[in-house]
Amino acid sequence: MLEVKNISTGYGKKQVISDVSFTIGDNEIVLLTGGNGSGKSTVLKCIYGLLPKWNKDAEVIFNGKNITNLPTSEMVKQGIVYIPQKDNYFETLTVHENLVVSGSTYSNEDIKQREQEVYKLPHLKDYSNRTPFNLSGGERQLLALGNALMHKPKLILYDEPFAGLDEVNTKIIVDELLKLKEQKIGMLIVEHKSIFDTFADRVLEMELGKLHMK
Ligand SMILES: Nc1ncnc2c1ncn2[C@@H]1O[C@H](COP(=O)(O)OP(=O)(O)O)[C@@H](O)[C@H]1O
Ligand SMILES: [Mg+2]
Repeated sequence: MLEVKNISTGYGKKQVISDVSFTIGDNEIVLLTGGNGSGKSTVLKCIYGLLPKWNKDAEVIFNGKNITNLPTSEMVKQGIVYIPQKDNYFETLTVHENLVVSGSTYSNEDIKQREQEVYKLPHLKDYSNRTPFNLSGGERQLLALGNALMHKPKLILYDEPFAGLDEVNTKIIVDELLKLKEQKIGMLIVEHKSIFDTFADRVLEMELGKLHMK
């Protein structure tokens, strides 16, 4: 599904990741783990085009298509969504409004249909008129996921979905991710905790900006 070859990048002149290469198979859940500051989030941002790829021979292939230099705005059209660790929902909008705004590139009819699909996630339908302020941490994470699912993605790049969640809420999110896998959606999940080890099909570990297979 996804082939990442030799991506290097950083901030300003400071290189943060070096020659990172890996693949994600069809509907595979791959866990990207490693210590704080090892470059996990940077890998996601670089794949998604939020940071430039510094190597001339860098390549990102998604379902046979070369997406190495596609701008972020094109990624969603290809079927890739990125859920950042923070700012992954609209603070001042209700759940319903969040989903409508997330789907704003689609027709009204399509938005309605996509919104109903997203309401298969727990809680969101019942709380559709609440703003994130009135949701629990777990419910907010479901909203972040819901915003992404409005695009019917084939691949989700997900940065620390379980950060700050207790065991119960972690389990709720894990269950939803496993359901998405059944729908043939692939995932690259950044998580420094070992929570996800047993659910992931494969674990990649970052260390000082480089990758080694566990
Ligand atoms: N916006 C930024 N500007 C400058 N340096 C950054 C920025 N974001 C991250 N870094 C640096 O890049 C390194 C890797 O960060 P990051 O990819 O966020 O690590 P991780 O997600 O594994 O904790 C760290 O040394 C961090 O300080
Ligand atoms: Mg990070």
